[in-house]
Amino acid sequence: MSDKNRSQWDLGRFIETLSYFEVIPFLNCIKQLIQGRPQDKQARPDGGKNVGVILVAGATGGLGKRVVGRLKQRGYQVRCLVRDIEKARSILGNDVDIVVADITKPETLNALLMANIQAVICCTAVRVQPVEGDTANREKYYQGIKFYQPEIVGDTPENVEYQGVKNLVEAAAKYLTAANEKLIFDFTHPSAELKNVWGALDDVVMGGVSSSNVQITENKAVFAGNVSTANSGGFASVRTKNFDPPFNLFGYTGVELRVKGDGQRYKIFLRPDATWDGLGYSYSFDTVADTWLNIRIPFTELTPVFRAKTVKDAPLLDASRISSFQLMLSKFEYDGALNPNFTPGGFSLQVEWIKAYDGKTLPQFILVSSAGVTRPGRPGINLAEEPPAVRLNDQLGGILTWKLKGEDSLRASGIPYTIIRPCALTEEAGGQEFIFEQGDNIRGKISREDVAELCVQALEQSQAYNVTFEVKQGENQASVINWQQLFSQLQPDK
Ligand SMILES: NC(=O)c1ccc[n+]([C@@H]2O[C@H](COP(=O)([O-])OP(=O)(O)OC[C@H]3O[C@@H](n4cnc5c(N)ncnc54)[C@H](OP(=O)(O)O)[C@@H]3O)[C@@H](O)[C@H]2O)c1
Repeated sequence: MSDKNRSQWDLGRFIETLSYFEVIPFLNCIKQLIQGRPQDKQARPDGGKNVGVILVAGATGGLGKRVVGRLKQRGYQVRCLVRDIEKARSILGNDVDIVVADITKPETLNALLMANIQAVICCTAVRVQPVEGDTANREKYYQGIKFYQPEIVGDTPENVEYQGVKNLVEAAAKYLTAANEKLIFDFTHPSAELKNVWGALDDVVMGGVSSSNVQITENKAVFAGNVSTANSGGFASVRTKNFDPPFNLFGYTGVELRVKGDGQRYKIFLRPDATWDGLGYSYSFDTVADTWLNIRIPFTELTPVFRAKTVKDAPLLDASRISSFQLMLSKFEYDGALNPNFTPGGFSLQVEWIKAYDGKTLPQFILVSSAGVTRPGRPGINLAEEPPAVRLNDQLGGILTWKLKGEDSLRASGIPYTIIRPCALTEEAGGQEFIFEQGDNIRGKISREDVAELCVQALEQSQAYNVTFEVKQGENQASVINWQQLFSQLQPDK
């Protein structure tokens, strides 16, 4: 900045910018100490919450707890429906959202439980155990292979497997919204959190003197300021803080913006990782002065860039992990080319919302049922060869018959679903190949670990939409699983 002809560069704004975006986080701490504010828990906004929560019913069970673990690992926001909070905390820990409810009591399936749900995974089951009793950890029941004479303990299969599942389906149907569109930023109803998420990021970080800000009014965001080309600068932008977990927009075609500009060409950036100055995926769009426009940006048309240089061999954007969004007005297009619709000086871009659009229909209710549900009473069935639940269906209160009725209530609900019917569940480590079947004829076993993975994978497979299938493990270990191919064997229910 020694050149006297250069405009006055502002060190204060430079530091403000970097500390807002936590590039130099210690400055935030110092500021908080001086101002006596507690640590800002909002500093890293939550991208999972913005695209909904996965509700897991039966989260304290052998399968349910593994589903919760895998969802968390994959960055989903999880809520657990449990009957006993103490038991749930001891199994699931403290860093998971737990709501006490009982699927046999519809009044407990309320807004507190259901708010903002994106999908449900139901792993509930009536309690079955050996007549001779089990250990405190249910080891005899859980091992799944050695046969013990079983009995139902507690509530009846009719109440849990049918009426309970039906209650959960009906409650979820009221709260699940069509999944093919997802509001990401709704400036027409701005929340306090939204106001804390967007901040200015101008060419001051490169030595320039442009300045901008974002004002979130009652019903829109206004990105405005002044772009100066002094000091080799020439851009102004507003960017979100990094979301943690990032946004998962898997299955959507792209993002759509509703904007009113001033006739200039703006850019939007989506960033896959949380690094400050890393790879961005950019798209330029023209505005028409004083006219509201809907701009659709397919993920496949985003250009990978580092600053304003295109990155030739970068992969396509992974829409399942988007850490931040940025809007920019720049003198430059890409690789040194000039923005043809740019005038230095004042500018203004109004935004009503940003959403993900044209999502595939993905399952929103994954029900874990059981192989054998259609076999009791089936003509020609050889009971001697059938698993205990089929042989003993009557003695076990019609467990499979009621499970089938529970399935029927989901199939009739109109909610996009997947019904998984596993063979005998074991506590083995898993990692075996999957064998899928339809028609309810297979016998075998499968690890709860593998069924948990299947439940989580089904959420992201459009081929899992409205299918019912049985599953068991194969002989071989599976090194890599092509989930799309696996699910593509399945026929949707009629
Ligand atoms: N075991 C097998 O070999 C086998 C074979 C095929 C299919 N399946 C099916 O696979 C699924 C998972 O089995 P699993 O053995 O892992 O289950 P599990 O360990 O017995 O867990 C059952 C879960 O359901 C919950 N639950 C029961 N009644 C409830 C109610 N009224 N409201 C809310 N939650 C309730 C239990 O909560 P609490 O902790 O409060 O009791 C528990 O979390 C079940 O659908 C089962 O039928 C099992």
